[in-house]
Amino acid sequence: MNALALETAVLSADGNELVILDQTLLPNEIRYLHLTKKEEIWEAINKLRVRGAPAIGVAAAYGLYVVARTFDCHDSASFIASLKNAAVYLDSSRPTAVNLSWALRRMVRKAEENASCAVPELLDVLRKEADLIREEDIAISRSIGEYGFSLLHHGDGILTHCNAGTLATAKYGTALAPVYMALEHGWKDLRVYCDETRPLLQGARLSAFEMQTAGVETYLQCDNMVSYTLSKGLVNIIFVGADRVARNGDFANKIGTSGVAIIAKYYGIPFYCCAPSSSIDMSLSSGALIPIEERDGSEVTEMWYSKRMAPEGVKVVNPAFDVTDHSLVTGIITEKGIAYPPFDEAFEKLGIR
Ligand code: MRU
Repeated sequence: MNALALETAVLSADGNELVILDQTLLPNEIRYLHLTKKEEIWEAINKLRVRGAPAIGVAAAYGLYVVARTFDCHDSASFIASLKNAAVYLDSSRPTAVNLSWALRRMVRKAEENASCAVPELLDVLRKEADLIREEDIAISRSIGEYGFSLLHHGDGILTHCNAGTLATAKYGTALAPVYMALEHGWKDLRVYCDETRPLLQGARLSAFEMQTAGVETYLQCDNMVSYTLSKGLVNIIFVGADRVARNGDFANKIGTSGVAIIAKYYGIPFYCCAPSSSIDMSLSSGALIPIEERDGSEVTEMWYSKRMAPEGVKVVNPAFDVTDHSLVTGIITEKGIAYPPFDEAFEKLGIR
């Protein structure tokens, strides 16, 4: 089994259900969930059953469509009003990944542009838009992969943090897409180092699983081993994903990413952020404006332990993301090309507005 064959978020054949792979069970169990209610979809995104910025966007688009199918509305005005309410609700499931609000806004805008249509036609339009978001995501990931692949050399060691692979998108991923492209080009000599990524272990459970099932020489390391592997010359390049990139090139990604970037700067290892242009929020001048999700402390103190491992009552800090300063970033790989500093100008040149 190759993880690349797993679908993260699709529509059921009859169009009634959002079907997601429950990523909280990986790598031990492959189970798909069939969701129809907006509360179930909200819970699936909030609890990271579907996660990774682009995959959240695709799930939200299909999710909004399946919810819209259950509206008891006979005219387009009340249908669009209900659609907007459902979009606001789904958007509240997680704050940091901009793809969530981006995909929901795109769906609502599409309905508004077709407000003169009857409800069945509006539903048809929404289904096509959600399909398009998914198809575009696959093409975007491939393009990011090809740009990233152009930076690789035979025998390279690649470090990645969290999971920005096929499981975080509709297919291929962002940070791991260059590795999939290398495999397609017949390269068999890359090594990938996956940070385990405390506290939710996306690196251990998802990236290591993806890379191993793809046949890549894969090493799992604890988050505090980054300085060691970089000091030993085992890593030639670092690829990470992003949940939101600000205009100046600061970007939010899984907690721990900024620490990796600081260590990479010290050892002079190229550090690239891989992100679709839909993750670039040109309305934000800097990363200080990106909302950072704070999650429940139990994820740190007990979630992965058979017995609680920290003293009862201890206060816990559990931000899900941190912001990496643009000064630490070698380049930002998008589907439109690689942006180099100064990033605001580079984004403009790539047509990202
Ligand atoms: O909390 P998660 O698992 O959704 O966080 C995921 C990440 O931080 C990814 O690196 C990011 O969403 C990019 S996915 C292509």
